Amino acid sequence: MLTIPDLIDLDRYPLDRPGSVAFAELVAQCQAMHREEDCANLTGFIRPDALTALAVEARDLLRNGYQKSQLRTAMFDQGDPDKPEDHPAQRIFREGSLQLASDQIGNTLIRGIYEWQPLTDFLAAVEDRAELYPMADEFQALNIIQQSHGDSLPWHFDVNHFTITLLLQASEAGGDFVFVPDMRNGTEVDFETMQKIFDGDESQIRRPSRNAGTLTIFRGRNAFHAVTPVAGKTPRITAILTYDERPDCVSSPRGNTFVYGPRVEAIYRLRREASESQGT
Ligand SMILES: [Fe+2]
Repeated sequence: MLTIPDLIDLDRYPLDRPGSVAFAELVAQCQAMHREEDCANLTGFIRPDALTALAVEARDLLRNGYQKSQLRTAMFDQGDPDKPEDHPAQRIFREGSLQLASDQIGNTLIRGIYEWQPLTDFLAAVEDRAELYPMADEFQALNIIQQSHGDSLPWHFDVNHFTITLLLQASEAGGDFVFVPDMRNGTEVDFETMQKIFDGDESQIRRPSRNAGTLTIFRGRNAFHAVTPVAGKTPRITAILTYDERPDCVSSPRGNTFVYGPRVEAIYRLRREASESQGT
């Protein structure tokens, strides 16, 4: 089994040497990227010769993925009855993907990367937080998503504050990660900018260039983000690693059912039934 030094290019990204000058320089470099570009993009984070193993592992796991084709708004619902019909919160998009929830990704190479404490510590240092934690949500913590020809991930915000994405396999065309920073502050959403984006205004859209093996750090709770439609016969495969300042950050059963579909809905139903029968 490949170990962390086989997978992550620690010569280039010395996450295993906190306290060293090289580590401090890397953190400072990432913080500068965050300030200037609102996301830190680490190309070649995964060693090229380890990429195949991670992609093969992901493809294998994805055989049990949830084939999603759903219509939703950018706010992960079917529209807001309290808002006018032409409001951007009413705009419906199709999300097409093959998705694995965290509980479907067992003791794997990608799980080893996600749970490697120096990666969490590095992210906390970049984000200038005393401590970060892998998200406690049993379904959202670590995901693998595949988009095939014609699939896309429509615009949205994340539930958690900090997200790392790791591109495991790039598509031949399309599949660009796009985002607009700082569009949500607390519960305040910048719907004016959202309207402009939906009307085709690309002036505020960032499009970092990424290859397979690139690690991207960004603030998905505040950044409005999407993946453009994938084209070609090679699917785009990404691992999504989520973290939060709270050790107990979880999504709601309703939110998880919406994201992960009937399998997760059934898990919640069985638990509800079991606790009801215990209570009687
Ligand atoms: Fe996201």
